Amino acid sequence: VPQRFQAPKGTRDILPPESGTWAAVEASVRNTFDLYGFREIRTPIFEDTDLFLRGVGADTDIVGKEMYSFEDRSGRKLTLRPENTASVCRAYVEHAMRNLPQPIRLFYLGPQFRYERPQKGRFRQFHQVGAELLGGRGAESDVEILLLLVALLRDLGHADLKVLINTVGDEESRATYRSRLLDYFCPVVEKLSDESKRRLQINPLRILDSKSAVDQELIEGAPRLVDSLTTSSREHFEAVLAHLRSFKIQYQLEPRLVRGLDYYTNTVFEITSEGLGSQNAICGGGAYEKLVEELGGPRTYGVGFAIGLERLVASLPAAFDIENFEFLRGPVVVAAAGRIPTAEDGVSELSKLAEELRREGLPAVEASGKQDRVFEFAKSISAPLIAFLGEEEIRNRDLSVRDSRSKEKKTLPRDEAIRYLKDWFYKNRKRR
Ligand code: HAM
Repeated sequence: VPQRFQAPKGTRDILPPESGTWAAVEASVRNTFDLYGFREIRTPIFEDTDLFLRGVGADTDIVGKEMYSFEDRSGRKLTLRPENTASVCRAYVEHAMRNLPQPIRLFYLGPQFRYERPQKGRFRQFHQVGAELLGGRGAESDVEILLLLVALLRDLGHADLKVLINTVGDEESRATYRSRLLDYFCPVVEKLSDESKRRLQINPLRILDSKSAVDQELIEGAPRLVDSLTTSSREHFEAVLAHLRSFKIQYQLEPRLVRGLDYYTNTVFEITSEGLGSQNAICGGGAYEKLVEELGGPRTYGVGFAIGLERLVASLPAAFDIENFEFLRGPVVVAAAGRIPTAEDGVSELSKLAEELRREGLPAVEASGKQDRVFEFAKSISAPLIAFLGEEEIRNRDLSVRDSRSKEKKTLPRDEAIRYLKDWFYKNRKRR
């Protein structure tokens, strides 16, 4: 009996035309990473389970209940990566990147896995695009990462983004804060939710993250971390904010923003999008000063972010004109206006022109048929320009360049036409 299957719970197929949107988004973010000098790292999909225990933190939700962990046939304990920062830091240590000129700027793009309850915007296999800046210097690195993040989203059409920002302080600030939270919550422990009672034992900071209605009132009145910051943490945070103002990056202070991973120190941030429902964080990130050390490397300043691609695609503003983006990436169509002219050596003039363009670095494909069909073809492959070559053009050593959408026409001497095409692509092409 045949059996029908469905994609596993919490996973999904990305089909055309949505897959085209994903490709366009990926091309756009790669372009922005180029602009900021970030280069790609591809780490394994699975890692030693201990990497995440150490890196992300044993008492986080991710490690506690969301990991896809398994033993392979020889009993190695492995986990499908729930996030990418720990892997990047593992690679930084493993490949002694500390010995290269610092800082190291890396980006990644790929699937991550968390055993969460699926809902709108939340999947078990999801995709992140993220960046990590390692071996940099404090506030300056934070600001560089935030500028990159805002640019990535701006290039996708997000205009007035606001960065939600907070500091979780350095270790010393956190130790002070922790004891102040204990002083505050212990006397009222009976009023806390069960989850928060448990968190009080392990990590009282995490109580502030509680979604339980029972806890909200107490959380409202809890001491604030800003009041426990060391001087250096305070100065760090103030420097970040001052630089953001200089760069005219809009931000909103979110004193209650604590992230769900343990490695953060000092600056943390998120960007949310309205219209995404309860899972509204498009991205999150922050600085981590101890993670590389925790993984056996030297003390290294790190800061980074990750954007959830499912949520990013779902919140793309109309300003990110996918169709136009596609046209900026498409080739030149080389076509004959009428009969295909043949050179003296018997080779089609179209083939010669197409190959000449490619050797000049311009994408080109040939087309044949009546003019209407050529326009139809150009549109179907998102080709922005058509270079027509007819008897007359050959005789005059000209080319007629036409815009595939407006049909606007320019007849230019062949050399000039090729220069025109090159200029056009240089200016418009958003492609690596
Ligand atoms: P995160 O906040 O856990 O941070 O994840 C970043 C983003 O990934 C979220 O804002 C969300 O858009 C997306 N995301 C997370 N879980 C899911 C899910 N189950 N389904 C769909 N989307 C999801 C990190 O992962 C850190 N590694 C970020 C970072 C990099 N910090 C420093 N460097």
